[in-house]
Amino acid sequence: MKKSSKIILGGALVVVGLAITYRAVNQAPDASLPPDKQLAQIMEDGGCIFCHTANPDLPFYASWPIAKTLITKDVEDGYKAFDIAPMMEALKKGEAVNEVDLSKVEKAVADGTMPLFQYYIAHWGSSLTSTKTEQVLAWVKQHREQFYPNPLAAAEFKNEPVRPIPDSIATDPRKVALGEVLYHDTRLSGDGTISCATCHGINTAGVDNKQYSEGIKGQKGGVNAPTTYNACFNFAQFWDGRAATLAAQAGGPPLNPVEMGSASFDEICGRIAQDAAFTAKFKEVYPEGLSEATITDAIAEYEKTLITPNSDFDRYLKGDSKAMTAEQIEGYALFKDYNCATCHVGVAMGGQSYELMGARADYFKDRDMNEKSGLTDADNGRWAQTKVERDRYRFKTPTLRNVALTAPYYHDGSVTSLDKAIEMMSRYQVGHTMKQEEVKKVEAFLHALTGEYKGQKLTLAPSPEKKAALLEKVAETRDMRHAAAQKALSQRKK
Ligand code: HEC
Ligand code: HEC
Ligand code: HEC
Repeated sequence: MKKSSKIILGGALVVVGLAITYRAVNQAPDASLPPDKQLAQIMEDGGCIFCHTANPDLPFYASWPIAKTLITKDVEDGYKAFDIAPMMEALKKGEAVNEVDLSKVEKAVADGTMPLFQYYIAHWGSSLTSTKTEQVLAWVKQHREQFYPNPLAAAEFKNEPVRPIPDSIATDPRKVALGEVLYHDTRLSGDGTISCATCHGINTAGVDNKQYSEGIKGQKGGVNAPTTYNACFNFAQFWDGRAATLAAQAGGPPLNPVEMGSASFDEICGRIAQDAAFTAKFKEVYPEGLSEATITDAIAEYEKTLITPNSDFDRYLKGDSKAMTAEQIEGYALFKDYNCATCHVGVAMGGQSYELMGARADYFKDRDMNEKSGLTDADNGRWAQTKVERDRYRFKTPTLRNVALTAPYYHDGSVTSLDKAIEMMSRYQVGHTMKQEEVKKVEAFLHALTGEYKGQKLTLAPSPEKKAALLEKVAETRDMRHAAAQKALSQRKK
């Protein structure tokens, strides 16, 4: 054997030896352990906890000059992207892990993006072997079955990150009837001009299609109105989550000076009490009578009926493979590939977490053309409630149900078209530039999310401009047909 071949052979043996050792120190948890324990061990060994918590115990070498910069940066970015603490806490208590966290871990592990290379190359037991990967994915599936049952989906779609909307949820019909009246009742506003439906029209997909809503005396708010359809599935209400329940939310607008501008609920109750017939009906259901608690309870009960099942996408998930077009099916695949379904998850495809707007690129800097001078109070997002720095610019992820009808988009209502909203999401949230044809496919898919209310597909009442354009088009074709008929007639006469 030549000397050079010996060196190569020796080198190869060293590499193989290292690889064997590397594998040997990287043991998957014992398969007989309960799934939660297996997962906790993998998260521990994988360094996931190290990079994804607020104040990890840094190792001794983390104080060395270069190591310090690198490690601190990874931990900072890691914690910004994903906080693993709530999940570990839930595991310990045997409680439900947030659906968003489940989907994020599932995606990162399935794609093999975590732990980061620079971590597992230095921590030999940390990389995810195929056994560990399988264990994590099996745990996600088992956890979904246990805490997020999906009885409506066809067998092949039981473990999807998104679930179909149920046909109805349990409500008290007597309260719903009262809530429906109150939702449309302008007596909730100071000057009797505004109701909930002014900004959340039942015939306009639960929104007003304005950048900022107009409240009492034409005053404008500072944030875009989200839809009330499917809001009952949100884990909290408002962009910054400041109301824990629908009832707590409904207490806000009536007294908000730029929305409905009433002075107090006493004042509102006084106005409604003059309506003897309604008050009598109300007392049959709520013997304690009119109050903030009972009024908001009835409205919240009504809002539980504002759900939109039976979209083309839901019928597809339930097993009707023809319900979506080939383009829409491809769009759904892209939606999952590009991580959209790690934040837009669950029944409402959103509403389950607060996410950083601009996780991968500075959204606000670009929006305000390089100057962050245009920042408003509303742009602070969740921070306004917690004053925790990590929460700055975090917003409750909006639902994507009926999104084709709810323009303009984002908390600041700054984006008017759906394709732009999709393209920007991939840039700012995912860190990827989507091709135009991919955007079109995802857009086609999002159109399949328009559902039904009371058995009727939601539509957009055409705006005056749209109606005028439509009429013009109709007149144009009529003129064209007329001209064609004239020509044919004159030819026949010849
Ligand atoms: C050395 C630090 C480090 C380790 C160890 C690490 N991560 Fe991460 N993780 C990051 C960083 C940095 C990001 C954000 C940048 C990125 O996505 O590449 C991130 C992102 C994530 C995200 C969010 C992805 C998204 O699209 O928002 C998840 C989920 C995640 N990691 C899970 C894990 C899991 C599970 C493990 C353990 C198997 C792990 N990480 C180990 C640093 C780390
Ligand atoms: C003047 C317009 C206006 C009126 C009137 C109004 N809203 Fe809203 N609504 C908004 C805006 C704007 C937001 C977002 C505010 C925020 O997040 O800070 C909102 C948020 C909500 C949300 C939260 C949805 C989500 O996804 O977070 C619900 C639910 C809701 N409104 C229901 C109601 C009800 C019920 C009433 C009547 C009692 C009402 N709104 C009256 C404009 C209005
Ligand atoms: C890291 C979490 C996250 C990911 C990943 C993500 N989104 Fe979003 N999405 C959000 C948040 C948060 C908002 C609201 C942002 C705001 O209002 O400033 C949003 C808003 C939207 C909106 C506007 C909805 C409305 O009513 O205003 C659309 C459409 C959308 N996302 C589609 C997508 C698509 C398509 C993808 C994948 C390419 C995606 N999102 C990926 C969190 C995410």
